[in-house]
Amino acid sequence: MTAADLRTQLLGASYTTDDVLERIGDAGQRGLGRNSTIAADVALEGSMDPLACLIRLFILQQDVPGVSAGQAINVEAAVQAGWVERCQDDVRALVDIRPYGSPDDGASGFLVSDLTPGMDQLTTPTRPDYVLGASPASLTLAEITMRKPVDRALDLGTGCGVQSLHLVRHATTVVGTDLNPRAVDLAQVSAGLSGAEIDLREGSLFEPVAGERFDLIVSNPPYVMSPPEGQRLTYREGELMADGLVEAIVRQAPEYLADGGSLQLLTNWAIVDGVDWQDRLRGWVEGTGLDCWIIERERLDAYCYIEMWLTDAGLAGSPEWEPAYRRWLDYFQGLGISEVGMGWLLLTAAGRAEPHLRFESWPHAVAQPVGDVFVRNLAAIDAATLPLTELLASRPRLADVVQETIGEPGAQDPTHVVLRQRGGLLRAIRVGTADGAVLGALDGELTLGQVISAVASVLEADPTNVAAEVIPVVRDALRDQLLLPERVVDHGSGIQASVG
Ligand SMILES: C[S@@+](CC[C@H](N)C(=O)[O-])C[C@H]1O[C@@H](n2cnc3c(N)ncnc32)[C@H](O)[C@@H]1O
Repeated sequence: MTAADLRTQLLGASYTTDDVLERIGDAGQRGLGRNSTIAADVALEGSMDPLACLIRLFILQQDVPGVSAGQAINVEAAVQAGWVERCQDDVRALVDIRPYGSPDDGASGFLVSDLTPGMDQLTTPTRPDYVLGASPASLTLAEITMRKPVDRALDLGTGCGVQSLHLVRHATTVVGTDLNPRAVDLAQVSAGLSGAEIDLREGSLFEPVAGERFDLIVSNPPYVMSPPEGQRLTYREGELMADGLVEAIVRQAPEYLADGGSLQLLTNWAIVDGVDWQDRLRGWVEGTGLDCWIIERERLDAYCYIEMWLTDAGLAGSPEWEPAYRRWLDYFQGLGISEVGMGWLLLTAAGRAEPHLRFESWPHAVAQPVGDVFVRNLAAIDAATLPLTELLASRPRLADVVQETIGEPGAQDPTHVVLRQRGGLLRAIRVGTADGAVLGALDGELTLGQVISAVASVLEADPTNVAAEVIPVVRDALRDQLLLPERVVDHGSGIQASVG
């Protein structure tokens, strides 16, 4: 049976995101997010119709009677293809196959990955070449990815192919690579089942695309920094020491980016004792000639970090927990790592003589998907760094921003006035009288210079003094997209619904 045949059978049984979500309900969906199938099982109310049967087989990892499975798919062909096996009269899934994307957005795809170890608290060992399905990290990367149309896109470390399924919607050509041959095989099935054309290649880092360039490269690389001894899981641990694999991707990026092209990573980095984290990452980027924007979203101390990944490896409750924990601590101590930063990285071949480098911590809530924030970043930097005369002659306009006033109850004047974005990174800036008035009046019609003169006249202040006070605020507001340089096209999120 070809993937196309199975696709027809799955769709024939209404095995789509919307229908599956309707059958398992909200509680079932949330339960799957916790690796618990009970709520979904309860929602299925004992049914064994074709849709219920596929949900049980490929998502809940239940054995189902062969007769029932046969109503949904050609069991013999699925056995031949290695997707299920027979256990006496029952059929058991060998891989997880779940719908990804919704027919409503014109994309009904499927992701094929390994079965979830630890489902319903079962302690099943994780195979070293385990292929992960769409995880919360995969979804975050999908949500931060710039969704503007591009010619060539690369999904580095494709796994089950989740990022590629997003990329095919706005890239003419999509190449997916992975070190793990099993990942390449399963991504191939995901692509076939989804009717998506993805050029899948096996190999480490950029080796499979030597000599090629891309307009967009995305990766959720194996960034877990575990000690070299002990079992390593290819989906999360690279071959290099600490965050060496992430550093290698960053340093090699210029060779693989087309002019104007960007690389986006969802990743981790070590916070090394006595070294400023921004200086350390700047050291990776300086010399590449690329613009860089790194946003630290979260930071964990070594203990939290180790516990999180030992749990992920299924060691919770096992006698291996403490020795593995202590080995990991020793490893971190030897490298001087006491914390780990987690966040987003954007590199762009902007072609600037002086690349724009920005490192910041922004642990606050954001309004996902934020891909458009990154799409607008180049224009935002261009506008924010204009020479003064050009800046004064420009006509920026306030973006989707609201004004909040905070003060004592009953007081006539507020103590703080804050301008807050209603979308994107949800930035906020505190403004005073002059800068608040200037920003508030910028609507894309008048030039910044005209607005400053008008505000100075109302305040009976010297325009030069007002400009000196306001210009740095305007530059920051342009860089942070509270002010937009001109009308910007919204490319839509490109984010699809998913199960689990
Ligand atoms: C965290 S998973 C990400 C999978 C998928 N892209 C996603 O967003 O969920 C990392 C992937 O990188 C692959 N990988 C590990 N080492 C690699 C290397 N040196 N070169 C390329 N891929 C690698 C793993 O096999 C795994 O599929």
